[in-house]
Amino acid sequence: MQSNGYAYIHTIGCQMNVYDSEKLGTVLHALGYQQTRDPEQADIIVCNTCAIRHKAEEKAFSFLGRFAREKQKNPRLITVMAGCVAQQEGNNAFQRLPHLDLVLGTQAFSRFSTHIDALKSGQRQIVDTAPSDVIFETLPDEIAFKENPVSKFVTIMQGCDNYCTYCVVPHVRGRERSRSWQSIVAEIEMLADNGIREVTLLGQNVNSYGAKENSLSFAELLEKVAAIDKLYRIRFATSHPKDLSKDLIQAMAGLDKVCNHLHLPVQSGSDRILKKMNRGYTAEVFWSRIDALRSAIPDMGLSTDIIVGFPSETPEEFEETMALVQQVGFDSIFAFAYSDRSSAPAAKFSDPVDEAEKMARLNRLLAFQDTITRKKNEQMTGRVVQVLVEGVSPKQHTGFVKTTPHTRQMTGRSAANKIVHFPSDTLAAGDLVDIKIDNAYPHSLWGQPLEQ
Ligand code: 5AD
Ligand code: SF4
Repeated sequence: MQSNGYAYIHTIGCQMNVYDSEKLGTVLHALGYQQTRDPEQADIIVCNTCAIRHKAEEKAFSFLGRFAREKQKNPRLITVMAGCVAQQEGNNAFQRLPHLDLVLGTQAFSRFSTHIDALKSGQRQIVDTAPSDVIFETLPDEIAFKENPVSKFVTIMQGCDNYCTYCVVPHVRGRERSRSWQSIVAEIEMLADNGIREVTLLGQNVNSYGAKENSLSFAELLEKVAAIDKLYRIRFATSHPKDLSKDLIQAMAGLDKVCNHLHLPVQSGSDRILKKMNRGYTAEVFWSRIDALRSAIPDMGLSTDIIVGFPSETPEEFEETMALVQQVGFDSIFAFAYSDRSSAPAAKFSDPVDEAEKMARLNRLLAFQDTITRKKNEQMTGRVVQVLVEGVSPKQHTGFVKTTPHTRQMTGRSAANKIVHFPSDTLAAGDLVDIKIDNAYPHSLWGQPLEQ
């Protein structure tokens, strides 16, 4: 295909944004653009943005702001703000970024191509934040800009109906809707045919997949995906504790390809705060879910999200979160200081927690979790884990593993989602290998392949 120039896509935010960016990449590829990793070489710059916290939003404005001068030098350069901040800001985005060419909301991706054509014929400052039922179905299914050679995200649902009081998602990504299982399976078959061996199925609340559409349940979808021959592993995120069903736990236990790892955001250990967050469960209900999971799948890897300093959270309520974190023993946590989002109801709640106090709570929680993660990793030494090889380690450590100077150090993940490094000259991306762990570090494990 004739090259129309270079595209640079910068992604801020969650895994869904990574998937969305790849979809934008397929559109640009179809228009004849090649990917570049150098923004200076680009003819089109896309920033796919995140509105979940104030800091993420600021990152988007500052990234795109950098190209104001560039655009003066090269008026043909196209700059695009896509995703959640674009949806939230609409026309207002031009107040801070007058040089921006296109504001492309979360449901406007199917019209991306048309807008690029309009920009090329001289139109400027286009805004599209209109809703749409079909988002991905009309976009090309292909791997255009390949970042990870073995693992891909696949979005199976859009939006959210839970309306947690702190969260901007239902406001920027709309109501919950599920893709058809046929289109999901077709996309994953295409990925597997192209060498992808692991997929992570994405939705804000995958447990309610298909419920509105009266289609397959999520457990049934997992069975369909597990039947794809060339695919080795299936992960998924995110599960809502209130909807984690026995069926799903059984499906996870029964399907070999489904990894023994679950991301189950708890958000807080205090029942009063959980209620104010509109989470729909108590700490005890969360506990019962963890118990059910661990008795069905003993080696379950668990991660969670936690917000500290939600409006009116007392020091005692924060201690309840610390106690829950200690009792559960998560493998890892993602913890955040509460951030006001003007479209979310909690922005109007009284008794905000002081910023310095929020940071103190956050740092205490993160330091505490570090000790737990370290202990959990240390418990892995001497054990054998199956690793899906992702490629050569970006960092070449010496001294940790018994390697000769000529042995490549490879990296991959265990089913429970731990990063594992090991020496090998023969293994390649996409191979499954058993690794005996002989060293544990805070964020990774090191070991030796059992056979090559
Ligand atoms: N402030 C801080 N953290 C938030 N999250 C969502 N909204 C906010 C907010 N307003 C966190 C939640 C969610 C994760 C993706 O981001 O923990 O699970
Ligand atoms: Fe936001 Fe709650 Fe929906 Fe997650 S479940 S996206 S936190 S509203």
